[in-house]
Amino acid sequence: MSCVTPATIEVTPATLRGQLARWPTGVAIITANGLSRPLGKTVNSFHSASLEPAMVGWCIDKKSSRFDEWVAVTGYVVHVMASHQAELVSRFAASRSDRFDGVETTPGLDGIPMLTGEVPLRLECRVAGTFDVGDHVYLIGQVVTMAATAHVPMTLQR
Ligand SMILES: Cc1cc2nc3c(=O)[nH]c(=O)nc-3n(C[C@H](O)[C@H](O)[C@H](O)COP(=O)(O)O)c2cc1C
Repeated sequence: MSCVTPATIEVTPATLRGQLARWPTGVAIITANGLSRPLGKTVNSFHSASLEPAMVGWCIDKKSSRFDEWVAVTGYVVHVMASHQAELVSRFAASRSDRFDGVETTPGLDGIPMLTGEVPLRLECRVAGTFDVGDHVYLIGQVVTMAATAHVPMTLQR
């Protein structure tokens, strides 16, 4: 059996991003209450953190145009997205101020707008802590409610 030694790669933001994109992740849209209008964003940093107590987390890029509002939220709703929901995933990643225009929502925890589409998994969370991690801030959430459908979550992998 042949043995391939992994090639050493210089660690730069670009090489790290490229290599970590090979790690499969799901895709979620996170919503929250902003100062004057709702916040919504596509993320793939969402992950499970603890089962007991039930905690999840995700990271917000400090370059986000509404970063100050995101790090001030006291709760957020995670919508794990399915493959047939690519249009919503793109919409909530695009640089536009009207991400919610024409998107049906219903008020959830503390009035946070929840997407009414049939997502595989929806978690309403209270922010339990925030941590500075380099060019991102980590938002830990305590899961308050959970709702699910049988839809298969979308997967990203390069
Ligand atoms: C697949 C995918 C995953 C993303 N993951 C994150 C993420 O984990 N955290 C984040 O802050 N932005 C993430 N983004 C970028 C945001 O969706 C958004 O485009 C970016 O924050 C700029 O929007 P804003 O200025 O309204 O924040 C991701 C984008 C895509 C397409």
